Amino acid sequence: MMKTYRIAVIPGDGIGPEVIAEGVKVLNRAAELDGSFRFEFVTFPWGCEYYAKHGKMMDDDGMEKLRSFDAIYLGAVGYPGVPDHISLWGLLLRIRKEFDQYVNIRPIQLLDGAPCPLKDASKADIDMLVIRENSEGEYAGAGDWLFKGKPEEVVLQTGVFSRKGTERIIRYAYETARRLNKSLTSVSKGNALNYSMVFWDQVFEEVGREYPDVKTYSYLVDAAAMFMIKQPQRFEVVVTSNLFGDILTDLGAAIAGGLGLAAGANVNPDRTYPSMFEPIHGSAPDIAGRGIANPLAAVWSASQLLDFLGQERWGKAVLQAVEQVMVERVALTPDMGGTASTSEVGDKVVSVLAASVAAK
Ligand code: NAI
Ligand code: MG
Repeated sequence: MMKTYRIAVIPGDGIGPEVIAEGVKVLNRAAELDGSFRFEFVTFPWGCEYYAKHGKMMDDDGMEKLRSFDAIYLGAVGYPGVPDHISLWGLLLRIRKEFDQYVNIRPIQLLDGAPCPLKDASKADIDMLVIRENSEGEYAGAGDWLFKGKPEEVVLQTGVFSRKGTERIIRYAYETARRLNKSLTSVSKGNALNYSMVFWDQVFEEVGREYPDVKTYSYLVDAAAMFMIKQPQRFEVVVTSNLFGDILTDLGAAIAGGLGLAAGANVNPDRTYPSMFEPIHGSAPDIAGRGIANPLAAVWSASQLLDFLGQERWGKAVLQAVEQVMVERVALTPDMGGTASTSEVGDKVVSVLAASVAAK
């Protein structure tokens, strides 16, 4: 019997719809070439335009609507005219939080043909998987603002590190390192953050006792930032907090091909709720509507989606197709030095994918 994956598509704002269309094209082609599964996409028109019409970022029963899907595929959220804290919290962060997508997975892998600002770095040097805590930590939204506007004004931003939240992300990272047979590096800051990060380091050690086969390293975040540039080969699987992960993965995106290529998955490993796959770039209002956005980040996140669904063979094939498109340099968007349109790049990925299957 043909397996059907039901995917909720939220193209969102700006270049979101432009790049997501190409990802959908690639997913459909992979399913067609395989023949044993198919996709059913349901598109939700939520985002800033929706907000302008309805005064909210999504339907009132939006979360219930999303709940039954196998996964969510999201473009980008945010556009001038709607404050970013409204658009982000009203849609993206709401889904991450309510669906308990506590793992953020960002592959930082230098593909052949990808632009890299590091002089001597090779493909073997930049190949890491960053696992970022995605539900609490520095982004828990806890704190206070006292005596607003007065001379004695005080602002508190509290990091929240629960035992449950810290253990589960660290355990997930150990499991991943074990499965991939790679080392695991924890990035923290125990010398300065004398509660949260001392606790983090302690949990990293405690959980590690159950994984004696996994080789571990522990770095302070400032040193880690330096090593990611100077000796990126030190890192294989990396686990870190919400804030540190946010910053380090942008650094990672910069050394592995730039924003036009970086993908991220928001995963609920227990599969109680759907997980969400997205390019990490935003809606790029400066180039929106011109058909020149790079769709490769969205395509890479489609490859992560295929992995998550258990179609790893296709996830890998899609990533190899992205690589070949960059090596051939026939169809690339302007940010990668080419002249192709968004859909021409998507068409090229699809044709490379089909050719790679025919060659087997
Ligand atoms: P951005 O990622 O949209 O753009 C930064 C720069 O990179 C721009 O010059 C843009 O043209 C370029 N760029 C980004 N993606 C590209 C692509 N696929 N191809 C070619 N060039 C690309 O970040 P920015 O400008 O800070 O944010 C714009 C809006 O997006 C804001 O409303 C922000 O809140 C939102 N945003 C949403 C995110 C999400 O939905 N996950 C993530 C980041 C920002
Ligand atoms: Mg970020």
